[in-house]
Amino acid sequence: EIAIGVGILLAYLLGSIPTAVWFGKALHGIDVREHGSGNPGATNTFRVLGKRAGTIVMLGDVIKGMAATSLAVILMNMEFIEEQNLVTFKLIMGVVAVTGHIFSVFINFKGGKGVATLLGMMIAIHYEVALLCIVVFLITLIVSKYVSLASIIGALSFPALLLLVPRFKTNEPLLVIFGFFLFVVIVWTHHKNIRRMMEGEENKTYLLKSKKD
Ligand code: G3P
Repeated sequence: EIAIGVGILLAYLLGSIPTAVWFGKALHGIDVREHGSGNPGATNTFRVLGKRAGTIVMLGDVIKGMAATSLAVILMNMEFIEEQNLVTFKLIMGVVAVTGHIFSVFINFKGGKGVATLLGMMIAIHYEVALLCIVVFLITLIVSKYVSLASIIGALSFPALLLLVPRFKTNEPLLVIFGFFLFVVIVWTHHKNIRRMMEGEENKTYLLKSKKD
């Protein structure tokens, strides 16, 4: 179907929007890819440009993940997809948006690590579990001081909570399967962080106050 194809393309383009690069340049005239970890993401924007720019980029990346995932609802309301397929299409749109963030067409397919966009997707799919994932992220961050580790554990907590907490038991096995798949994606996008952590060289973040790399 053409409408579904257009929806998927839109989800990819939304996910591709390189908020860290564009807002960093617009607000401070600085390309965050040339500083700190070099990653065009919210964490590195916090690190390089401070709280205001970091917050804007984080919200931008979360919102694009939510918006892309919610395109599935619009497609359903326009009767291009059936209600029983809604969760499947939300998952597809969300994964496409996260992929767009990681392989952004606007910055030579060298995008960010997908964490904030994944959070937006999780909020659009199951906001209660997504809120708990934020709590897990914050606890891991406070204890370890590593944003990257908090991101990895936070991504793992989505499928884990769906699987292990009776209240969140779902009759949509795809939710858990996609959740674990995205966790693997997040581990992969963080492979350099993981190596740095093992070598004791990963940047530590003291909540919002961070040291330069
Ligand atoms: O969301 C990305 C974060 O987990 C790590 O970012 O800049 O420290 O590599 P960074």
